[in-house]
Amino acid sequence: MTAYHRHARELADRLRASGHARILAVETSCDETAVAVVEDGRRVLASAIASQIDTHALYGGVVPEIASRQHVEAIDWLCDQALERAGVGMEEIDAVAVTHGPGLVGALLTGVSWAKAFAYARGLPLVAVNHIEGHVCANCIAHPELESPFVCLVASGGHSEIALVRAYGEHETLGGTVDDAAGEAFDKVARVLDIPYPGGPLLDELAEGGDDRAYVFPKPRVEGRYDFSFSGLKTAVINAAHRLNQQGEAIRAADFAASFRRAVVDSLVEKALLAARDQGIPRLTLAGGVAANRLLRREIVRQGARAGLSVYLPPLELCTDNAAMIGSAAYYRLMKDEIADLSLNAEPSLAF
Ligand SMILES: Nc1ncnc2c1ncn2[C@@H]1O[C@H](COP(=O)(O)OP(=O)(O)OP(=O)(O)O)[C@@H](O)[C@H]1O
Ligand SMILES: [Mg+2]
Repeated sequence: MTAYHRHARELADRLRASGHARILAVETSCDETAVAVVEDGRRVLASAIASQIDTHALYGGVVPEIASRQHVEAIDWLCDQALERAGVGMEEIDAVAVTHGPGLVGALLTGVSWAKAFAYARGLPLVAVNHIEGHVCANCIAHPELESPFVCLVASGGHSEIALVRAYGEHETLGGTVDDAAGEAFDKVARVLDIPYPGGPLLDELAEGGDDRAYVFPKPRVEGRYDFSFSGLKTAVINAAHRLNQQGEAIRAADFAASFRRAVVDSLVEKALLAARDQGIPRLTLAGGVAANRLLRREIVRQGARAGLSVYLPPLELCTDNAAMIGSAAYYRLMKDEIADLSLNAEPSLAF
């Protein structure tokens, strides 16, 4: 055991015994560089984010090589900004957390290398966090009263899953998409409506002014009780758009967006409610970028209330990628004595 490992281990043991930890968290899994300072898993002292959306919008999607380079350029000044906003010095940080997967390998490596260097230089414990577990923990920050177990519908750019969260850091996946993620479907359908990347939020806005019964799209069918499928729906919607174009018929964009959004949201809500009911768990939460969707938020609250469930929504700033959620998830890992060592590597396909 090296001097670093000994020191980090002793510190981790002390933090666990005290139940307190001020964590510097880093997130670089995709196209947002983010650094946050989080105390005891729930108190966010600062959350700094540098989004690369404007750069990638020029190409219609994330360019991995550019994402990695921009993370390298942003991470140092973002760390300074987060510490300054939190009003704490480097010497007041107890542990370092980093997303090690899933995500883009080069992008992840930037954060992992940076966090390892920071931890080594200051002799701090290093905590590896699963990005999707981070999304779930956004609820822990926003709702201190939320008790486990609860059912969480995770819908993001790369994932659509229903999880039974027994405790923070301990979950079971009940079901998920068998093909595309919900966010991916939103982004791809947005393209045929000439909505710039990332299409999801703008398509959602456009749909607010549309009639969701104007176009009829196939209801996604899938065997698994808690599974989703969005690929068939996405293809049917894109084909319908091409057909209308070929026939010289104008697409009523707001109606088109609203009809597609309705199909996705109905499917997500139906399966999430089914899972909560089957499990006999009266608490339902949302997580991930698509949790910002207006219709999804309205419907899950409305239908959840009708089913007698307490529904918890993360605030919009904690739905899409941020490092506060990583700092929260890391606290629970640290308290369970799960610390990483300096051999930590990026894991692009890390399972949730
Ligand atoms: N209001 C909205 N309506 C629909 N989709 C949205 C909305 N806001 C964001 N999204 C979608 O959420 C996704 C981004 O979420 P997030 O940042 O969690 O994804 P990611 O980090 O790229 O993927 P993952 O978390 O699965 O690794 C994009 O697909 C985006 O279009
Ligand atoms: Mg994400």
